[in-house]
Amino acid sequence: MDKMLQLSKISNLLTKYCNEEEILTFKNNCESPAVNGLLLNSKYDLKAKLLNEFPTLISSDIDKAQLYFKKEQCQLGKTIYHQGGAFYIMDPSASIISFYLNELLQEDAFVLDLCAAPGGKSISLSFRNPNRIILANDISFTRAKEIYHNVERLGLTNILTTSYDPLKLPSILADCIILDVPCSSSGMFRKEPKMLDDWSENKVKRLLPIQSQLLNVAYQHLRKGGILAYSTCSLSIEEDEEQIKAFLNEHNDCEMIHIKPQEKMIQGKDKLGIHLIPGIYKGEGIYFALIQKKGEERIDKTEIKYPKSKIQTSYKSFIYNSKEYLLTKMYESIKNLNYIAPGLKLYDDSQYAKCPFDHAYSKICQDIAQIELSEEEAKSYLRGEEIRIKSENKDLVVLTYQTLRLGFGKVSNNRLKNYLPKGLRMSI
Ligand SMILES: C[S@@+](CC[C@H](N)C(=O)[O-])C[C@H]1O[C@@H](n2cnc3c(N)ncnc32)[C@H](O)[C@@H]1O
Repeated sequence: MDKMLQLSKISNLLTKYCNEEEILTFKNNCESPAVNGLLLNSKYDLKAKLLNEFPTLISSDIDKAQLYFKKEQCQLGKTIYHQGGAFYIMDPSASIISFYLNELLQEDAFVLDLCAAPGGKSISLSFRNPNRIILANDISFTRAKEIYHNVERLGLTNILTTSYDPLKLPSILADCIILDVPCSSSGMFRKEPKMLDDWSENKVKRLLPIQSQLLNVAYQHLRKGGILAYSTCSLSIEEDEEQIKAFLNEHNDCEMIHIKPQEKMIQGKDKLGIHLIPGIYKGEGIYFALIQKKGEERIDKTEIKYPKSKIQTSYKSFIYNSKEYLLTKMYESIKNLNYIAPGLKLYDDSQYAKCPFDHAYSKICQDIAQIELSEEEAKSYLRGEEIRIKSENKDLVVLTYQTLRLGFGKVSNNRLKNYLPKGLRMSI
């Protein structure tokens, strides 16, 4: 594949909504490295600590929860901070959607993320308000399980994970639908160079009917007065403004929510949505549009009656498939869905479990003592090693590093039995 030819085709896509100067800036930055970002987990207060420890991290001017970094300078994905759930690594452009959405949503809005895996949009919205229930769904079961792994690492109790084909989702209504559709991904070519080889006009054409079908599904699940957040990582107007235009033509009870673009954001053609363009905005290519369905409709947000958990917790206990999960709350209207995980799992029910509790519970338990580890001890724990430790405590403990919860262990004869599940152990 001729890289220059592909880049020239992709630059051409911008002519529909960018001026010459903007296109030139884009072209001059096509070969620069992608901008990486992370969003801080609001459960912890580690921004100052991270900025101090990783001096190449840069704070965002727009979003105080966001930091930028260069992959070649710090491998943040392989740190104790990442494993402990201090942040979620995501493209800075992608996380701006929840920044706007959060301002528009009611405190108790029920959010349905139709194409959620690996969870970026749901997780970033959850960080901004841990009280709203977010149903994070993805058609791919394998990818939906990734959502749960992220939710578990970050200790989030307001994200429930399912894997339905959106076309077959039971008829539930939501106050907000996040619809981050499968797209041609032309905006991500700096981050994932193979996207460039993969891109073609045919790929765009193939995806258009899927996107418009998903838009219609989103419409059906949106209550009157609710908000739809549509997004792609495509630079093609056909997948972006034209999809929105067709949708608005078809659904005359829906209207654009116009947000004032901030500096370096490009207004979409006919003021339909916002483009974030690599090289212009500090992030990769994202398009998003916010739409409101007119009217006022109440949706059922009756909370289910909970049986009391045997453990002491302020979270709600929900029994699903005979297993207990802890979560912020569960509504009657969604209690009968097929879940991957309706919250964080409480008990480890595997046959030879050494620890009675599931690893997920270590992230939120309120009745188990904690032992703070040094950096070397924390690394050793994450590698799955047994650590020499002096403690009078002979019960189950949660091991922490800089207040981040890493997992369970038990001290016996000055040695820590390591209960970190094998699948989560890492070379660090
Ligand atoms: C852009 S990704 C979602 C990224 C996610 N929102 C995030 O922020 O991490 C699009 C998702 O759509 C799903 N998908 C692919 N084909 C689909 C289809 N035909 N119907 C519904 N979802 C589909 C994929 O499994 C993929 O996870």
